[in-house]
Amino acid sequence: MILVTGGAGFIGANFILDWLRAGDEPVLNLDKLTYAGNLENLAELAGDPRYAFVQGDICDKALVERLFRQHAPRAVINFAAESHVDRSIHGPGEFIQTNILGTFNLLECARAHLGGLDDAARKAFRFLHVSTDEVYGSLAKDDPAFTERHRYEPNSPYSASKAASDHLVRAYCHTYGLPVLTTNCSNNYGPYQFPEKLIPLMIVNALAGKSLPIYGDGQQIRDWLYVGDHCAAIRRVLAAGQPGETYNIGGWNEKPNLDIVHAVCALLDELRPRADGQSYREQITYVTDRPGHDRRYAIDATRIERELGWKPQETFETGIRKTVAWYLDHPQWIANVQSGAYREWVEKNYGGRAS
Ligand code: NAD
Ligand code: DAU
Repeated sequence: MILVTGGAGFIGANFILDWLRAGDEPVLNLDKLTYAGNLENLAELAGDPRYAFVQGDICDKALVERLFRQHAPRAVINFAAESHVDRSIHGPGEFIQTNILGTFNLLECARAHLGGLDDAARKAFRFLHVSTDEVYGSLAKDDPAFTERHRYEPNSPYSASKAASDHLVRAYCHTYGLPVLTTNCSNNYGPYQFPEKLIPLMIVNALAGKSLPIYGDGQQIRDWLYVGDHCAAIRRVLAAGQPGETYNIGGWNEKPNLDIVHAVCALLDELRPRADGQSYREQITYVTDRPGHDRRYAIDATRIERELGWKPQETFETGIRKTVAWYLDHPQWIANVQSGAYREWVEKNYGGRAS
């Protein structure tokens, strides 16, 4: 059994679905169900004996201790986080709480759990912490991409909170011998991403006839990875990564934001043309830049490729086509997320425990 935190979110849900397609080891999903947690993402697992869900907070010590006691997971995969940079700028409190104190609580509970294990189980245990390339800060145009040895220079409350959690994870390995693994990944995209992030926001706004807001000049660069490739990389790191090490995960796909939005518009023009025959590009609007906006991220994924043999399967072109097609095929998912109807779904299925 593995314990996945934040499994009702975008990457966590993709990971659980991917994990149970790849094997039969059971998953316990601990998720608080914040605005970003959506159990509809995992609806196809209803009745699957390999999957169990607990609604709860990773900051809740008594709860996490109980889960360790009852289920004795052989690994923790920590996805749970506040993940949106813009929200962290408007209100950093929850980011400090969940990303730092929540990770601290998980580490403490894992450490206590490890103390009660025999040698073999202790050696086999893993705490895999899912982090981000944003902890490394911003690159200039010609700087080399981030390697695992790049210094930490987080610039937003979000990335600072993730950096703090990475440092705690590292310290628990160094000080207490907790067998940790840290992954730092670039921007993900794909099915089930909440439409506050660039790609799904552009898709849903375009279809709704709304404006497509580009922050600043739209020349900021992000390095895009299809979420299924990220999930496969995490499985690989869990299976073969060296405890105490960190692995950068990326798809060698640096692109300016404006190119991303143009790619989304071109696919929508092809797959769901506007009734007036105009391109969705007409909806692009330049808006005020994000405060402290990092200019460029880029991941050097040499280490995970060379040492663990992982490589992304999707190019940006195949991944973005699948993604746009997924959103076009799931209008009800979009409508539910936007209306909050998924909260009612939670209410119905989990009786009054929705936050
Ligand atoms: P998300 O916002 O879609 O999902 C986060 C999930 O965590 C939600 O289900 C939410 O309910 C849950 N959660 C939040 N606070 C919690 C708490 N206190 N206790 C339990 N559950 C809680 O995020 P995502 O995009 O899926 O990101 C998952 C992880 O991957 C995060 O740690 C993020 O920092 C990291 N990451 C994301 C990206 C990306 O591009 N999205 C890239 C690199 C790393
Ligand atoms: O790099 C990994 C990180 O990628 C993850 O750690 C974060 O959890 C994830 O949210 C993401 O952070 P970004 O800030 O890069 O993602 P976002 O989708 O919010 O923005 C991507 C880029 O697009 C960024 O340069 C800001 C810009 N943008 C975003 C939105 C939502 C716009 O121009 N307009 C928008 O409306």
